[in-house]
Amino acid sequence: MSSKQRIVVVGNGMVGHHFVDQIAAQAEGQVEITVLAEEPRLAYDRVHLSEYFGGKSADDLSLTSDTYYKTLGVSHFINSRVTGIDKAAKTVTTQAGEVFPYDKLVLATGSYPFVPPMPGKDRENCFVYRTIEDLDAIKAAAEKCKVGLVVGGGLLGLEAANALKQLGLKTHVIEFAPQLMPTQIDIGGGRQLKQKIEALGVSVHTQKATKHIIDGETCLHKLEFSDDTELETDLVLFSAGIRPQDTLAREFDIEIGERGGIVINDNCQTSDENIYAIGECALWQGRIFGLVSPGYTMARAAVSHILGGDFTFQGADMSTKLKLMGVDVASIGDAHARTPNAKTFAYENPEKEVYKKVVTDETGEFLIGAVLIGDSTEYDSLLFQCLNRVPLTDTAESLIVPALQGPIKNPADDMPESTFICTCNLVTKGTIAEAIQQGCDTVDLVRAKTKASSSCGTCVGMVQNVIDSELAKLAIEA
Ligand SMILES: Cc1cc2nc3c(=O)[nH]c(=O)nc-3n(C[C@H](O)[C@H](O)[C@H](O)COP(=O)(O)OP(=O)(O)OC[C@H]3O[C@@H](n4cnc5c(N)ncnc54)[C@H](O)[C@@H]3O)c2cc1C
Ligand SMILES: NC(=O)c1ccc[n+]([C@@H]2O[C@H](COP(=O)([O-])OP(=O)(O)OC[C@H]3O[C@@H](n4cnc5c(N)ncnc54)[C@H](O)[C@@H]3O)[C@@H](O)[C@H]2O)c1
Repeated sequence: MSSKQRIVVVGNGMVGHHFVDQIAAQAEGQVEITVLAEEPRLAYDRVHLSEYFGGKSADDLSLTSDTYYKTLGVSHFINSRVTGIDKAAKTVTTQAGEVFPYDKLVLATGSYPFVPPMPGKDRENCFVYRTIEDLDAIKAAAEKCKVGLVVGGGLLGLEAANALKQLGLKTHVIEFAPQLMPTQIDIGGGRQLKQKIEALGVSVHTQKATKHIIDGETCLHKLEFSDDTELETDLVLFSAGIRPQDTLAREFDIEIGERGGIVINDNCQTSDENIYAIGECALWQGRIFGLVSPGYTMARAAVSHILGGDFTFQGADMSTKLKLMGVDVASIGDAHARTPNAKTFAYENPEKEVYKKVVTDETGEFLIGAVLIGDSTEYDSLLFQCLNRVPLTDTAESLIVPALQGPIKNPADDMPESTFICTCNLVTKGTIAEAIQQGCDTVDLVRAKTKASSSCGTCVGMVQNVIDSELAKLAIEA
């Protein structure tokens, strides 16, 4: 019998794949890895899924391949949904009845789109936006439709609405809350964002609670709302949030949270010490992390624990940007100023459709959050100050009020070499600086050499800042 540890990974989304990549690189042949993936293809870049509508192919989006996994010695099976776990025998069973033994089992089953339980939700041309197959189905249906409607005005809903618009549909977004992106931005930001989304040609309807979807008169469907208004559409796209895919844990007696999610400790172990959970299926200290970077950090923590290291998961930053060309929207840290005694400083210019807000702690010394709409130039520098608890050297309002700002300093100039620029792939400023010294003087070249900005992409601006800063230094030295 092989003395290697048998690792079985359930799910080959971005996080499951990152786990495989990391453990294969670090274990030096001491593990036997098996990947069981439900989807009909190996891992692809879900973060950039919308680019599939912009002309990218499934191959362009793929993060791995049959050949690459074979090179790593990873056994992999697509169309293989795991349906059973025998914790005592340490085996998993797939839907097809195949049994795989494990020493360590890693659940990387991600999440699924939440579809509000409204009558009519299963009618023809009602979709979710999560996989390549979903996008194929949406595209095919859109060819026969004139009007599309997105339920949910969050980060994904707005991306999806833009996609429907680009597919040529008259597009509506309906949002339950009084504003768009209520999780990430405040009312002031929501006001400006609504104008920007409407400028793209998408109609925004907030405070809409759908009673049901029934037959339409001019379109295929009619949505009737609790305020007695209605909207007609040919296609409905649900983007009303996500829920952790914790079915296996529920069915096989692994602890889950009150509202779902597989409970993990700092090593990403579940209530069974030989079973780990990482990514969007995992619940750490009562929180699900619906972004890719925290999932990657969990993957590294699980790898570390399995291989005897001491790197642990200690939570993650949820700052993010909306990915819509021409619509600058960013949210950093405590954007809603929920920290007790937090202080808020806001600037709004309705003519330029700009809204900016910074939040400090009660002393006013440290930045703890920000909202940027219409101009996110300061995102990198504010994020850096927030994450690294850099004491403010000037008034908080000088961070956002143009007349008080003076020339914007390159935030990379004063950063220590050890600062993480790309938190998805743990690439430091020092590593990027080395690449630049070796001739990588564009973001694409730095990405190819270091992997910085190759995952969620939020750090692209900061990578550019490091390039500018280092090239300026090299020019002075020359
Ligand atoms: C359009 C879009 C844009 C996004 N943009 C961003 C962004 O800009 N920034 C950001 O940080 N995040 C973004 N996200 C979120 C990001 O994609 C997720 O955080 C990330 O992909 C989660 O990865 P995961 O591996 O945990 O889960 P998933 O991607 O859900 O992967 C889980 C995999 O496990 C499989 N699986 C489930 N159950 C089983 C089973 N029983 N057996 C076998 N396989 C199983 C699933 O089929 C799936 O393939 C975006 C998401 C979408 C949909
Ligand atoms: N740029 C990015 O970082 C990015 C981009 C896309 C997706 N994502 C991630 O993908 C996941 C899914 O995104 P999402 O936008 O679906 O989730 P979300 O939870 O951010 O937003 C869902 C929105 O739907 C609304 N909603 C819920 N039920 C509704 C109903 N019945 N009618 C109308 N509105 C309703 C909510 O109020 C909320 O505003 C999230 O984890 C998100 O972080 C991130």
